Amino acid sequence: MQILIKNGTIVTSSETFSSDIFISEGVIRRIEPEIEPSCCNRIIDATGNYIFPGGIDPHVHMHLPTSAGFSSDDFHTGSIAALHGGTTTLIDFVTPHRGQNLPEALENRIAEAEKSLIDFSFHISPVEWSDSTAHEIKECIREGVNSFKVYMAYKNTVGLNDHDILNVMTAVGNAGGIVTIHCESGDETEILRNNLFNDGHTGPSFHPLSRPAGLEADAVRRATEMAAGSDCPLYIVHLSAKESLPFIKQAVIRGHRIFAETCPQYLLLDDTVYTNDFDETAPFIISPPLRRKKDSDALWLALNEGIINTVGTDHCPFTLDQKRSGLNDFRKIPNGSGGVEHRLALLFTYGVLTGRISLNRMVDLFSTRSSRIFGLYPKKGTILPGSDADLVIWNPGPENTISVKTHHQNCDINIYEGIKTRGYAEYVLARGRIIKDKEEIIYPETKGRFLRRRTLLL
Ligand code: URP
Ligand code: ZN
Ligand code: ZN
Repeated sequence: MQILIKNGTIVTSSETFSSDIFISEGVIRRIEPEIEPSCCNRIIDATGNYIFPGGIDPHVHMHLPTSAGFSSDDFHTGSIAALHGGTTTLIDFVTPHRGQNLPEALENRIAEAEKSLIDFSFHISPVEWSDSTAHEIKECIREGVNSFKVYMAYKNTVGLNDHDILNVMTAVGNAGGIVTIHCESGDETEILRNNLFNDGHTGPSFHPLSRPAGLEADAVRRATEMAAGSDCPLYIVHLSAKESLPFIKQAVIRGHRIFAETCPQYLLLDDTVYTNDFDETAPFIISPPLRRKKDSDALWLALNEGIINTVGTDHCPFTLDQKRSGLNDFRKIPNGSGGVEHRLALLFTYGVLTGRISLNRMVDLFSTRSSRIFGLYPKKGTILPGSDADLVIWNPGPENTISVKTHHQNCDINIYEGIKTRGYAEYVLARGRIIKDKEEIIYPETKGRFLRRRTLLL
């Protein structure tokens, strides 16, 4: 298949220019003005539209097992939702059972992800430390997974204590990988949650009180110290609190390889959603919880300053029925919300169009920086001859209103319900195939590939 995209405005993380793009066999071959339209199967006229590299979502949880059942999108439905929002690569997670070998858990998870229409990779979560973990980490890196995820929270399930986190960081740092980390001090959170519940505070509005910003900041401080001490690159996921930012800034100034991600929910929503009504509040039970308006403002500034490097979605939808597992006990509400398809529209509308970030910075946050941090660049995350033809042709004009009635994720709730956006992904190409053409997914049988990532050069 040969495709020629004509008359678009190409936007990368560093440049904006007008050019044509010629694609064959899934790869960008030429980027030049006025390419002759001979020998193409398809010509797309992108006049008036932007062309961005396909989005890389560095943080999604498809088909995540929890005590309330699996998160409601699997790799098939989740990848369709992703495509509608211009995302062409997903980085999900491998969460082994205790006692399970990490490469074996990876193999099982790859099999689950084969339903994805778009390319995918994983961060692997050691949920315990044993004599063989360091060796298993090296094996995973040989298999093409160079990032590992540890949780300071969720001490009853997947969380690790600081001693084991340090062991993981040392092993990953020595093997040339990167540790990604959920920063909330786990022991203290457990105590607060249990105290609130035992005092009769059972409703969902107590969730944010059990996970204060200070416990994120304290975890960020410890995580950056541990990463510096073990000389391991660190990527802090879903940063939510203003108080956490100085610790990242200090670590960066000291020359440590520290990166941070935030998510649209922390940029655009705030804790006023936590009311006493269960069904209204439960959709917003996520960890860390939504913060105050001043936190969102500080996160936007940090995105611009480069203290926060990426915007992922932490896509982890649960239906209202699943959320109701915690009707009488907020601790049992499955944590998470969906958003994989809204990231670009929200960044474009509330970042670029409000003047908070430039178009090029948006591309960096949406795609390029994740490809560099996690070892996919320049195959993914940019528009260069030789790169995979993963592209979004973005029409900046149309207005939309986010709603469960029109979204594509497999869920009956949407935390962005009613929010207005500008622009939409008119075409999305994944490895040179036009998979999304206007409103339609035209190759629903497409198979994404497991991406083997390089050892990092950070
Ligand atoms: O509430 C959230 N974020 N759920 C997904 C799991 C996680 O902590 O990232
Ligand atoms: Zn998390
Ligand atoms: Zn997550």
